[in-house]
Amino acid sequence: MSSPQSAARRTVLKGAAAIVGAAGGGTALTACSAEAAGGSGSRAVPEQPVELGAASEVPVGGAKLYREQKLVVSCPAAGQYKAFSAQCTHAGCVLDKIVEGEGNCPCHGSRFDVNTGKVLRGPAAEPLPAVPVRAEGGKLIAG
Ligand code: FES
Repeated sequence: MSSPQSAARRTVLKGAAAIVGAAGGGTALTACSAEAAGGSGSRAVPEQPVELGAASEVPVGGAKLYREQKLVVSCPAAGQYKAFSAQCTHAGCVLDKIVEGEGNCPCHGSRFDVNTGKVLRGPAAEPLPAVPVRAEGGKLIAG
């Protein structure tokens, strides 16, 4: 038999667990919506390293879109590369072009900064996820 005191204590503990659970649930929800943005179930970010070709194809101060690999790589300075998923975080369309440093989504017109992944124009609200990228032997490897 438990005393009323320990029952009260259990209630408090349960309450704390519920709060922790709710916070955890919030995190899980965020992850889920990122997953949902993948649309057809394809991942926005490559799980295996992907070879993108010659690093020199990305202009210094510019960016290049790899639609097939669903990636965008920018080169803010010589030898420095940044890669992001090219899959729009709104409903999962793949960006179709880069206009003046902005990745354009053809579906509903979202624009992303290809140097930071940041949303410049909605309806997308989440930035493009960053993908690790490196130049090896003159070739770009992402993921
Ligand atoms: S899917 Fe890109 S703006 Fe809607």
